[in-house]
Amino acid sequence: MKYFLDSAKLDEIKYAYENYGIDGVTTNPKHIKLSGKPFMTVVKDIAAWIKEAGLEGMEKFPVSFEINPHLDKWQDIVEAAKEVSAYSPNYVIKIPCCEQGLIAARKLENMGIRTNVTLVFSASQAIPVAKLGAKFVSPFVGWKENSGDNADYIADIVDIYKNTGYETEIIVAAVRNGKQIADFAVMGADIVTCGLAVYQESFEHPFTTFGLGIFRDAWDGTAKE
Ligand code: E4P
Repeated sequence: MKYFLDSAKLDEIKYAYENYGIDGVTTNPKHIKLSGKPFMTVVKDIAAWIKEAGLEGMEKFPVSFEINPHLDKWQDIVEAAKEVSAYSPNYVIKIPCCEQGLIAARKLENMGIRTNVTLVFSASQAIPVAKLGAKFVSPFVGWKENSGDNADYIADIVDIYKNTGYETEIIVAAVRNGKQIADFAVMGADIVTCGLAVYQESFEHPFTTFGLGIFRDAWDGTAKE
């Protein structure tokens, strides 16, 4: 399963790529706001780093950007997507899963601009996304679980895509902990996307810390020569 970083902060992206080998990046308007930089500056800075790091190419390191979420006509979504995608061959445009968004995503995929259909909360929403040939679908599990629902629809999407031979890759988004990462890997999701802190926590276990203490004590109490 691939690990994407959910962040628009270039220092975090570099850190996670250099130290964890993350496979791609997802951003959303909240992340752009948190970066403290204007949207187009983030778009240009990440494009420049991709080039400098020798990562150019959609399959090498895809980076998803959400365009102005106020746009609600497919024609306007397509125009905004064309502008952002021109900055890097790695850029994928996030499109909300609604009728106008799906129309825009179909047009963009037909023009060779890859899309990530986002804000997906049901298996039935995920079907038209794959039918139109989107590169990615992003079901948001954390938001579902916060509202008291469960994330079983991920297993359904995996089954539907497998049964039908759809090629859209499933990015399980808004992942909050290591248990979810493992659960979605078992279900057969292609990718998870999380913030840096979620990955960092998932690398640790209290028994690892406990065991390390035992080994350190034993090491200290043993002659070395
Ligand atoms: C994924 O593509 C989204 O950017 C992300 O997971 C949204 O959820 P969050 O910001 O609540 O984590």
